[in-house]
Amino acid sequence: MEEKPQTRPQCDISSAADFILSGGIGGVPTETVYGLAADATNEAAVRKIFAAKGRPFIDPLIVHVCDMEMAESVAKFSPDAKKLAEKFWPGPLTMILPKREKIGAIVTAGLGTVAVRMPSHPVMAALIRKTSRPIAAPSANPFGYVSPTRAEHVREQLGDKIDFVLDGGECERGVESTIILMTASPKKLLRPGPIPAALIEAALGEEIDKSPKKNEAHPQAPGMLKSHYSPKSRLRLFDSISEIPADFRGETIFFSRPKNPAPNQYWLSESGDVDEAARNLFALLRKLDKISERGIFCQRVPNVGVGAAVNDRLARAETKD
Ligand code: TXA
Ligand code: MG
Repeated sequence: MEEKPQTRPQCDISSAADFILSGGIGGVPTETVYGLAADATNEAAVRKIFAAKGRPFIDPLIVHVCDMEMAESVAKFSPDAKKLAEKFWPGPLTMILPKREKIGAIVTAGLGTVAVRMPSHPVMAALIRKTSRPIAAPSANPFGYVSPTRAEHVREQLGDKIDFVLDGGECERGVESTIILMTASPKKLLRPGPIPAALIEAALGEEIDKSPKKNEAHPQAPGMLKSHYSPKSRLRLFDSISEIPADFRGETIFFSRPKNPAPNQYWLSESGDVDEAARNLFALLRKLDKISERGIFCQRVPNVGVGAAVNDRLARAETKD
């Protein structure tokens, strides 16, 4: 019998770079989640990202760079932006800054600003260096679904729509970057992430708006939608186990390992560590989404460090009755 070809072959940095330079798109590892990458200066390639994800063109993309020279070629950096770049890059911080001409309207949804980030994942950094191009990449999931934190997640969901998947192992942070709108006064936290807002305030020496009513820079930005990052199963949240109805027979996710876990009980962290919980969150939601028939209850995590970002994603993923 003829063997069915694998959705996409394993790929190394050099062939991924060739795909990117010839207008292809593919899954790439970052320290936060896997991205779906294209040359940010190639409009036709960037369009393919929107098609593969089923993402509306009104939702702008993040541009990934490997050094400050490339960063300054795509956006205008204020002294404060330089300060944050120095302190947190490479790393999981995205800054929204005035864009330069090099970045076209397709990437920014016609906005005058661009989202820029310098990822720390060595494979992604090497890929950007190899192509010498800024790389546009949203999270590599179908629009509205949970972000991928392993190469296999990308293959499963987008494998037949993309040119390659570059495997860089499991993502270390597990939730998407912190996004700061640098062009507003005060500056605004648009999405909580691995870098806590308090650290950014300390670095800037000023307060930022941590709960903008909506994304005023871009009211329709779907990452800001109340319901996003959602599994298909019904997901409900709890703080204390007493909130779960006694007759619930679905899967329960705890923050840390329960003493004597039942077969339908899971946990985000062995030891009660928010970083570990963030790392495991999306993979566990995906796994349970495949088997769940009666819905999932998930415990909120402590609101410290990346815990605020975990709770933010859980709130967006929660099924609203
Ligand atoms: O960690 C991450 O940020 C991952 C990895 C792959 O880098 N990327 C990611 O991209 O999460 P995405 O597209 O899923 O989320 C980016 C968010 C979207 O909600 C988008 O609306 C917002 O950033 N965004 C991008 N450019 C913007 C702009 N100029 N103004 C306001 N929001 C913007
Ligand atoms: Mg996303």
